[in-house]
Amino acid sequence: MFNSKIIGLGKYLPENIVTNADLEKIMETSDAWIQERTGIEERRHIAKGDGNSTSMMGVKAARIAIERAGLVPQDIDFILFATLSPDYYFPGSGVLVQEALEIPDCPAMDIRMQCSGFVYAVATADQFIKTGMYKNVLVIGSEYHSGGLDMTTRGRNISVIFGDGAGAVVMTRTENLSEGVLSSHLHSQGKYAEELSLIGPNTGRWVPEIMEANDPEDISYYPYMNGQFVFKNAVVRFAEVIKEGLEKTSWSADQIDLLIPHQANLRIAQFVQKKFGLSDDQVYNNIQRYGNTTAASIPIALTEAWEEGKVEQGTKVVLAAFGSGFTWGSVMIQW
Ligand code: ACO
Repeated sequence: MFNSKIIGLGKYLPENIVTNADLEKIMETSDAWIQERTGIEERRHIAKGDGNSTSMMGVKAARIAIERAGLVPQDIDFILFATLSPDYYFPGSGVLVQEALEIPDCPAMDIRMQCSGFVYAVATADQFIKTGMYKNVLVIGSEYHSGGLDMTTRGRNISVIFGDGAGAVVMTRTENLSEGVLSSHLHSQGKYAEELSLIGPNTGRWVPEIMEANDPEDISYYPYMNGQFVFKNAVVRFAEVIKEGLEKTSWSADQIDLLIPHQANLRIAQFVQKKFGLSDDQVYNNIQRYGNTTAASIPIALTEAWEEGKVEQGTKVVLAAFGSGFTWGSVMIQW
């Protein structure tokens, strides 16, 4: 019998900072609107030509996580790569990480669960470790959003929210069943798939068809979000899935040392914090500086919290996410 636990964490953020004031110059928006609705002050965007890609940011975060775990890349048995912005339509980005890290034949699997991607990936890694199939699993969340956003006033309700970046953890086997991942809880609801989505091009409407139509009104290749509907569902599902984890572990809300919610929107995190009566010290937020980095947001925040000494042996950590699909989930970790 094994549990899985996190033994190394890393993050990578592109150097290029884009402030709300920078966005004011290219679209009709304001620092006040963005901060009031989302809490975001700035985000990182890959600068064209700086050599970054979704997989390369993942590799940079992964190298740090592997080193901090006291391992070398060749010790990794399995790679899980969570993203909604892969380098290619196919193959996935995990195999590019495997090649870049020079881990011969290491299986690599992409997880396409959007904002919940990292939570799904940790839960998946946990299962592979618990069964004994793999010992050391590298779990990456990485997103390169900025190149695919509508950076005009037309796309402002989405483009001001998202940022680029990557986070990674190394998970390994432990025989101490009272530490590590104690439980994980996953859900999805495809009924609302199109409420937060990027529809085209797709296999029902390939690129040649879109090009032939040559319709300037067609913006199906930009992300779409029904913002208020997403917000309302997010606050309900975040609360439900955290409660599910608390019940499974028999933890009370005041026993949570650190809740790391997916950094969707500061207002969503504050709503959840209030719902459980948590103090500011019990909830970690960094969306103010990085925006919403989708699958990368939790591993970036977890790494930053660990670097600040907020996560150490004995800490009770809750990861929770909600996003496109809709998908949602939580992971309860006894550090
Ligand atoms: N700057 C200025 N004005 C804007 C902007 C902007 N960036 N975006 C929209 N507006 C305008 C709209 O055009 C609209 O103007 P109108 O009243 O003249 O028509 C007005 O602001 C209100 O627009 P809404 O879309 O109704 O704004 P809302 O208050 O819902 O806030 C937001 C939008 C922030 C997206 C909100 O709905 C939200 O947070 N939703 C949750 C979704 C979320 O967090 N998504 C993150 C990704 S998904 C995930 O990670 C879970």
